[in-house]
Amino acid sequence: MRAFHLTGTSIDSLKRVELPIPAPAAGEVLIRLRAASLNYLDLMVARGQFPVPSLPMIPGSDGAGDIVALGDGVRGWAVGDRVVPGLIVDWAAGALAAPLAQRMRGVTLPGSLAEHATVPATALVRIPDQVSYRDAATLPIAGTTAWNAIAGRVRPGSTVLLLGTGGVSLFALQFAKVAGARVILTSSSDAKLERARALGADDTINYRSVPDWDAAVLTLTDGRGVDLVVETVGATTFARSLNAVAVGGTVFVVGLIGGGELSVPVVPVLQKVITIQGNNTGSTAHLADALRAVATNRIAPVIDRRFAFDDAPAAYRFLESGGHVGKLVVDIDP
Ligand SMILES: NC(=O)c1ccc[n+]([C@@H]2O[C@H](COP(=O)([O-])OP(=O)(O)OC[C@H]3O[C@@H](n4cnc5c(N)ncnc54)[C@H](OP(=O)(O)O)[C@@H]3O)[C@@H](O)[C@H]2O)c1
Repeated sequence: MRAFHLTGTSIDSLKRVELPIPAPAAGEVLIRLRAASLNYLDLMVARGQFPVPSLPMIPGSDGAGDIVALGDGVRGWAVGDRVVPGLIVDWAAGALAAPLAQRMRGVTLPGSLAEHATVPATALVRIPDQVSYRDAATLPIAGTTAWNAIAGRVRPGSTVLLLGTGGVSLFALQFAKVAGARVILTSSSDAKLERARALGADDTINYRSVPDWDAAVLTLTDGRGVDLVVETVGATTFARSLNAVAVGGTVFVVGLIGGGELSVPVVPVLQKVITIQGNNTGSTAHLADALRAVATNRIAPVIDRRFAFDDAPAAYRFLESGGHVGKLVVDIDP
């Protein structure tokens, strides 16, 4: 089968290879992958910033396809079923426990930049008929994370602050609008902000031309602040996120694009009784919820650009350039 191997710690170390089709072990299915999507996590893995057990490995966490073979003991799935696997394959549902968090597609297990992959049945979600493989492939990391940020936290009339126009932020925008929230979104680019407004963002701020964007958020909310910040950036934005959040609000901690070490004032956390909530993508059940929300509300995932399979390294480079809005997809066998 066609595949990519990550052979080192750079995008240049992605090599096109031919590999034998793997056989599903007990409890696993073999999927013929149709599409993959890239996440910031894939970039970190390719750059050696996120440890993997050994090299070479097949990278790419998110993918979708159809089942072509079943391992022993697999119940409830059949050859031909259209499926999308979650990232953390042993976390089927409920609370995350440390032993469940070890096996991740495209990190500690072979990933989606290949024509076939074996996947534990615990990770599988059925793709509704009206959702394409390509759209389903955008959901496991960004869609699931955004669903976890919004679901249960946002009501009609809530105000949500989103940082940037990447995959997580734009899914959060779409879910927040479905939930009836007011969305304030920041970006480095006026053109991207225009795109976000077309997708429903109510207020937008260019964080390059308005570096004190937290003050702008307070002005937009009559000094109250927002109910929820989806913190996709980390060290460089966290203190401003604490300033922009309302009394009793939540900072939902997702990302570390701006650095993984925090130095922030403690006082606003206490005085404003802020909830700081961490997140580790989500379970298979969370992915199923996100996919149901997309299908039910006819949400079209924002796919900025599609790449042919052999051009996957160009997709990584485009993601690294930050030129994208939403998701990047690699077509495998559309
Ligand atoms: N913990 C979890 O559960 C989880 C799950 C998914 C992702 N993540 C993490 O979340 C982060 C985002 O992931 P992603 O896949 O959405 O990334 P992405 O698609 O690469 O998007 C990144 C976006 O961040 C924006 N950005 C960068 N610096 C910014 C700043 N100073 N202020 C505001 N926005 C800024 C940029 O938006 P503009 O181009 O519009 O400026 C950029 O496009 C990554 O760190 C990823 O590892 C964590």
